Amino acid sequence: MALRLRSARGSDAPVIAELHIASWRDAYRGVLSADFLATGIEAALSAHWQATLVGRRRPGAVVVAMAGRHLAGFVAAWRDGVNCHVDNLHVRPGMRNAGIGRALLGFAAQRLQDQGAVSADLWVVAANQGALRFYLSLGAEVEAPVTRQTFGQTVVDRRMYWPSISTLITACALSPQLR
Ligand SMILES: CC(C)(COP(=O)(O)OP(=O)(O)OC[C@H]1O[C@@H](n2cnc3c(N)ncnc32)[C@H](O)[C@@H]1OP(=O)(O)O)[C@@H](O)C(=O)NCCC(=O)NCCS
Repeated sequence: MALRLRSARGSDAPVIAELHIASWRDAYRGVLSADFLATGIEAALSAHWQATLVGRRRPGAVVVAMAGRHLAGFVAAWRDGVNCHVDNLHVRPGMRNAGIGRALLGFAAQRLQDQGAVSADLWVVAANQGALRFYLSLGAEVEAPVTRQTFGQTVVDRRMYWPSISTLITACALSPQLR
C-alpha cells in the first residue's frame, strides 16, 4: 500500500499515543519497568501527545506516515537553537524494515533544516541494539552511555548525533527507498 507522509494534526494524538505505547511495549520489555509498561504508560503517553499536538506547538515537526487510513509510523523532532533533536521515531511492529523509519527521519530532518537546523541528535536506549544499528547505518556518531530519567523511569541512554544535518538527510535519501 502507498505511504503518505504529512504533518500530524491535533486529532492524531490518540492514534499516535496508541502506536507509541505499542512500540515501547514491544521494544522496551525488560528495559522499562513491567508495571510502567503494563499500566502507567497509557496515561503518561496519552497526556503527552494531547499536550504536544493540541494547543501551542514547539518549533519543529511531528510527521505521520499513513498507509491508507492507518498510522504506520511517526516522528517528532524539535528545533533547539540550530540543532534538530529527534524526540521520537516509531514504526508499527509488523511494518518495520521496509524503509518507513528512514523515510520519516529524512522528511523530518529536511523540515528542520528548512527551519534553520544545522545539526541533529537523539537519545537511544543503550540496550536497543536494533535502533543503534539503524542510526549508525545513517552515519550517526555515538557517545558513551549515561543514566537518564524519562517518564519517571531510569534508563541507560546513548546520545547519537550528526554534526551536519545534511549528512543525515543525504543518508536517508541515498538508502534504498520504501520497499
Ligand atoms: C528503529 C526504527 C524506527 C527503524 O525504522 P524501520 O522502518 O524499521 O527502518 P528502515 O526499514 O527504514 O531501515 C533502515 C535500515 O536500518 C536497518 N534496521 C532497521 N531496524 C533495524 C533493526 N532493528 N536491527 C538492525 N537493523 C535495522 C534496516 O536493515 C535498514 O538497512 P538496509 O536498508 O541496509 O536494509 C523501527 O525499527 C522501530 O520503530 N523500532 C522500535 C522503536 C524504536 O526503537 N525507535 C527508535 C527509538 S530511538
